[in-house]
Amino acid sequence: MQTVSVSASKSYDVLIGKGVRTLLAEKLNALFPGAKAMIVSDSHVAPLHLDALEQMLDTFGIRHAQYVFPAGESSKAPQVLFDLLETLAAQRFSRKDVLVALGGGVTGDLSGLAAALYMRGMHLVQMPTTLLSMVDSSVGGKTAVNLKHGKNLAGVFNQPELVLCDPDYLETLPASDFADGMAEVLKYGVIADEALFEQCKTGNVENDLETIITRCVSIKRDVVAEDEFDTGKRALLNFGHTLAHAIEAQSDYAFSHGKAVAVGMARIAALAEENGFCTRPCHARIAAALENNGLPTDCAFSNRELFAHITADKKCAGGKITLILPDRIGSCYTETIAIDKLRELLT
Ligand SMILES: NC(=O)c1ccc[n+]([C@@H]2O[C@H](COP(=O)([O-])OP(=O)(O)OC[C@H]3O[C@@H](n4cnc5c(N)ncnc54)[C@H](O)[C@@H]3O)[C@@H](O)[C@H]2O)c1
Repeated sequence: MQTVSVSASKSYDVLIGKGVRTLLAEKLNALFPGAKAMIVSDSHVAPLHLDALEQMLDTFGIRHAQYVFPAGESSKAPQVLFDLLETLAAQRFSRKDVLVALGGGVTGDLSGLAAALYMRGMHLVQMPTTLLSMVDSSVGGKTAVNLKHGKNLAGVFNQPELVLCDPDYLETLPASDFADGMAEVLKYGVIADEALFEQCKTGNVENDLETIITRCVSIKRDVVAEDEFDTGKRALLNFGHTLAHAIEAQSDYAFSHGKAVAVGMARIAALAEENGFCTRPCHARIAAALENNGLPTDCAFSNRELFAHITADKKCAGGKITLILPDRIGSCYTETIAIDKLRELLT
């Protein structure tokens, strides 16, 4: 088992390794003695993995309840958030109790926001079950739901108090959802670690998952420690994401986050290369690695179509937008440019 310790507004451990899920009850007793647990999960994950957790909590005498919502991005929505909050209230949960997010990034983002809002803050444990949520969304404290006008527009920073990251959960994850996680893994390679990129570029990663997850979480930990509230360096984690969020919105969320990030990375790398923003070419290497990992490198939406969504992005303010551009594989930088200039570059 690997431990990555995160120091932010809260300090907490991310435990990574096969079987760490079996530590949940012991950890809850140690961190929040006497607390009741609300396990939040979606309709795909709950039938596979919820029972085992509940049996463990029963064995340790920990009181618990469950909230299961329909799987999918469309549940990352204010209506589901408020239904969860009402359920916590109806079942008399208190701020001393703990919310356990068992699922992918949708579950984690929704649960993290609910835990921050309920009685102005209850305890939060993340148990990621997708590769994407293990390497990215369960760590760092960004929580949100989507609004009609765009992705992640209502949210807060809320760090968890523990993350249990068990690669055994990936055994039931469909291949396409696994590929989504590889988009974020390759992103870490492009922004910070050429060796990680090289390790993952062929798509043969099954035997190295624990090391890869640990490396990604460590990169994220370092960025978050420096810039928890996303005023500078943390923007780098959004490489490919400005276009990705636009693709998700334009497709009415039919495009998964990971696949949209893949296309976003390929397109921004091509744009960077064509306009002389990179010191070393990287588009072909990124595109090949994405393909080898079962990910798309392009989509049917033109940059012109996506532009309207881009101006609704959080990274866009005062007529300017901050782009994350690759200098070479292993190093990215931010560049703030006028929106009009971006329109010119994209169309
Ligand atoms: N908070 C952050 O920092 C951050 C970072 C990156 C992405 N995100 C968000 O994360 C979301 C995407 O996360 P995701 O790709 O995990 O999506 P997801 O939570 O929708 O999970 C993808 C699919 O896999 C299923 N699933 C999950 N675990 C499973 C398992 N072990 N076995 C079988 N099926 C399983 C889910 O039910 C779902 O159908 C997006 O909303 C994105 O915006 C947040």
